[in-house]
Amino acid sequence: MARHWLGEILRVGRLPLQAMALAGATRAFTDNPLLGSERLNRHGLHAGRVALAQRGAAARRWFLAGGASAEDRATFARDGILVKRDWLPPERFARLQAELLGLRAPAREHVQGDALNRLIALPPEVTRPLPETRAVLASREWRGLLAYVAASRQPPLTFLQSIFAQHRQAPPDPQVALHSDTFFPTMKAWLYLDDVGEAQGPFQYVAGSHRATPARQAWEKARSLAWREADAMSQRGSLRVGLEELAGLGLGQPVRHAVPANTLVVADTHGFHARSQGQPGTVRIALWAQAESTPFLPVPLPSVRSLLGGREAVLAWAVTDWLAVRGLAHRHWLDRGLLRAGDPPLAEG
Ligand SMILES: [Fe+2]
Repeated sequence: MARHWLGEILRVGRLPLQAMALAGATRAFTDNPLLGSERLNRHGLHAGRVALAQRGAAARRWFLAGGASAEDRATFARDGILVKRDWLPPERFARLQAELLGLRAPAREHVQGDALNRLIALPPEVTRPLPETRAVLASREWRGLLAYVAASRQPPLTFLQSIFAQHRQAPPDPQVALHSDTFFPTMKAWLYLDDVGEAQGPFQYVAGSHRATPARQAWEKARSLAWREADAMSQRGSLRVGLEELAGLGLGQPVRHAVPANTLVVADTHGFHARSQGQPGTVRIALWAQAESTPFLPVPLPSVRSLLGGREAVLAWAVTDWLAVRGLAHRHWLDRGLLRAGDPPLAEG
């Protein structure tokens, strides 16, 4: 009985915090009973957060509009994705490619489904001998465009990313299922260092799926009421969508962006997207960035994260390692020592 009352006090005590979390980026229907509440979602809690986040992002992008050309802003508003071929002048790209593909640096790996993901973080101590990389990351063209799409002034987390397709016998990589990353606009960007053909599993995106149309709002509401029957990723707030649902949402089919090296792809990953299934033995390598914003704020916050000087990922991994050793956290990204982006992964042991 005492335990029952204690549990009840703890549950009620957490409610104010859980209510406050709704004003931020909390997204998992499973984690917050308010977010998962059928009653509240019937009254439009989830769909309302989606709509409000769209307004917040639009307002913040107004402040950040100087980072993107008028043409890019118009294309992005229509499609939710920018695909910029020949992004760097050829001689600059050749230098960047040589620096990053030759870089041997601390690498982390995470196996998801049958795919192996490798990330090499790019803090200042790693980029010090890489002048072209530093120049690109500091350039107005890179920072301005990514900040505009992210609707945030916070510097994106930036990595050298390698995706090894069908690395092991396992269920498919969950990233090949079409999905929205979360309920609010988020940014992911890839500057491809090698050609991405069909074999390398190109990024797919449903043009225009970043917009909160009435049909999308109705879909979001329906999904928020049926989350208990959904897959695990949808329950965590990253909603999966079936190809057969797209026409009903007024959307076309996903476009596979098989593109040459030196193409910059920047997308709002609230829009529906996926990796394509790559062929075994292939790898897709990119300078990769991702950013999330404060969903509902109408003005972008000053860039406080830049105080960490690009060491956010390294610090986060160090903290997770420390907690994991003590049994207090699960470590997804395993330390693999010094590797190049294209080094073949070790066999599963
Ligand atoms: Fe995603």
